Amino acid sequence: MRDMSHLQNRQTKLIIGIISTFAIGFGALSLWSTYTLHATRAERDQLTLQNDSSAANLDLASSSIAELTDQISMLTIDLEDMTADYEREKQKNDDFEAEYRDIINTVYDLDKLSKTDKELLQKYSKVYFLNENYIPSKLSDIPEEYILAGHAPQEFHSSALSFLEDMLDAAAEDGVDLKVVSAYRSFDTQAQLKGTYLQTYGTGANTFSADQGYSEHQLGTAIDLSDPATGGPYDAFGDTEAYQWLLRHAYRYGFVLSYPEDNEYYVYEPWHWRFVGRDLSRALHRADANFYDWDQRQIDDYLLSIFD
Ligand code: DAL
Ligand code: ZN
Repeated sequence: MRDMSHLQNRQTKLIIGIISTFAIGFGALSLWSTYTLHATRAERDQLTLQNDSSAANLDLASSSIAELTDQISMLTIDLEDMTADYEREKQKNDDFEAEYRDIINTVYDLDKLSKTDKELLQKYSKVYFLNENYIPSKLSDIPEEYILAGHAPQEFHSSALSFLEDMLDAAAEDGVDLKVVSAYRSFDTQAQLKGTYLQTYGTGANTFSADQGYSEHQLGTAIDLSDPATGGPYDAFGDTEAYQWLLRHAYRYGFVLSYPEDNEYYVYEPWHWRFVGRDLSRALHRADANFYDWDQRQIDDYLLSIFD
């Protein structure tokens, strides 16, 4: 009996122990869960507060961005308008500058043309007339080395002399001995010469000698050339290598043959060359034309550049 009651006591104690353990565990769990729940809610509240604040900030930022975008759009339009205005103004300035430059060039050309002797590109052979008072604006002596031995000193138009010298030097470099026989002849000199020819050849002189006032030689830019072997301005010069050289190269120096074969003014004169400027002589060469073939107005376009 004593054992039974002892056992019952032990069972009771065990049950009480288990129940106590459960009670303590539940209490602790309850306390822990209560604490945890309170902690999470606080944090959540805190987070909610933070989220609300962030959302407000985001709204603010979004509206600021929208405003800035509008401003940028307006500024872009302004900038495009200003750029278009600038381009228009620049174009106007460029046009004005181009016009200004054209005017300056025209004034320069007109001034240059006013100082250029208009007679220099006229057709004198039996067509136009130079009176006894006409003399070239400036004449220079042709250096003796270029004059055919035994012939008198000669003068040439000062502005054309360097072209003549360059041509004769180039010929010499090619082994061609070109020399000057006759260059500038005044009205009076031409009159005396023509008088002499008339006495000798009668009216036949008119086929190879111009009357005073009609000779290109009075311009100071015409020249009779020959070589020592031929010895003068003779038909035989047309058969020389020197003449062939002139046909090939003279235009590069501004010289043209005034009286080729079958011209309508004088007999064929292979020795008589006239300076007309490089622009015109090149243009004639390209066109395979003679000076007297062209219309005077066409020729006059080259006066401006005659000494260029
Ligand atoms: N021999 C040319 C035509 C002159 O006398 O000018
Ligand atoms: Zn001549």
